[in-house]
Amino acid sequence: MRLTRAKSLIGLDIGTHSVKAVELTWSNGPVITGFGYAELPSPDAVPETVLDLLRDNEFHSRRVVTSVSGRSVIVRYLTMFKMSPDDLRNAIRYEADKYIPFDEDEVVLDCQPFEVEGVGNLGGNEMRVLLVACRRAVIDEQLRILAAAGLQPELVDVDVFALGNAFELAVGLDPEAGARVSALVDVGATKTCVNLMRAGVSLFTREIHTGGTAFTTAIAGRLSLAGGDAEALKRKPGDEYERVRQAVAPAVDDLASEVRLSFEYFENQFDLGIDEVLLSGGGSRLAGIEHDFARIFERPTMAWDPTGDFPIAAGSTDMELLNHHVPELAVAVGLASRIQRHR
Ligand SMILES: Nc1ncnc2c1ncn2[C@@H]1O[C@H](COP(=O)(O)OP(=O)(O)OP(=O)(O)O)[C@@H](O)[C@H]1O
Ligand SMILES: [Mg+2]
Repeated sequence: MRLTRAKSLIGLDIGTHSVKAVELTWSNGPVITGFGYAELPSPDAVPETVLDLLRDNEFHSRRVVTSVSGRSVIVRYLTMFKMSPDDLRNAIRYEADKYIPFDEDEVVLDCQPFEVEGVGNLGGNEMRVLLVACRRAVIDEQLRILAAAGLQPELVDVDVFALGNAFELAVGLDPEAGARVSALVDVGATKTCVNLMRAGVSLFTREIHTGGTAFTTAIAGRLSLAGGDAEALKRKPGDEYERVRQAVAPAVDDLASEVRLSFEYFENQFDLGIDEVLLSGGGSRLAGIEHDFARIFERPTMAWDPTGDFPIAAGSTDMELLNHHVPELAVAVGLASRIQRHR
């Protein structure tokens, strides 16, 4: 994955519920120089929503990093014999065949060897390799949307990796933290990204295909409400807090149990414990979810701020809107974090 040389870069996170854009400019550190947020009125409204967002907010660059996610993206952590990058590029085509249920000419493949000190049981002649495949049609569609919006694509990333990059940029490596393992859990509308990070390296990622939409569906079903009313009640339960909490409990439990399974798999596989769980994504704004997750995960569980303490130099930025949407900005910040860094 190549590093961009752009001085300012827009991270554009096209979710299934909302589109978020964060522009970063490097000046002794990341500075937020542009921001936009818009809910999607319908899944096919992406092109005009992106256009409106760019028109209504001030950005300095047209360079953009976007991401893919969902069932069209496959991420695998492989153990392979050590080999040169050229040999790996050839070998990975054969490896990919085993793991990827799409035709070779239907997918874009990328792979990267990575080293993790003191983790796993690698033989001396083995290396770990991250393999990512995405259906070509998904990337092509995204490139079409960017071209129509006059944007210049620098890179297409994956949501769950962007989440990890945002964490590195915003929280960085606390020397006191040592080899602490942080579990990043981003609850979106239709999916939840899990990224287990240690010393700046992502050791395990997973995407679970449920999120805030399932919470709304549970509330609508249990309380016999129309979708729009259930959504409104979910966000502002007011006096109905206890009823809403009960209605949503099975959906929250389902998601948390799935996430917990990943934690358990990871802890067995790597012989490492997870020290903390850090929540982001619009779905994580559900009232009481931190508390429920903490009970099920049996680990300290809290929200974190993916915008760190970055200065904000965006003259026209709606600060109230930005502050309101901080939990949803992890992926967009991670995408923009590919910016060139001047030291
Ligand atoms: N105040 C709130 N309380 C509870 N849920 C909320 C609140 N605000 C937003 N949500 C939920 O957050 C979800 C949207 O989050 P987000 O914008 O992170 O998703 P997305 O990135 O568009 O989706 P995905 O990543 O799944 O494609 C929706 O399900 C929405 O109902
Ligand atoms: Mg999302």
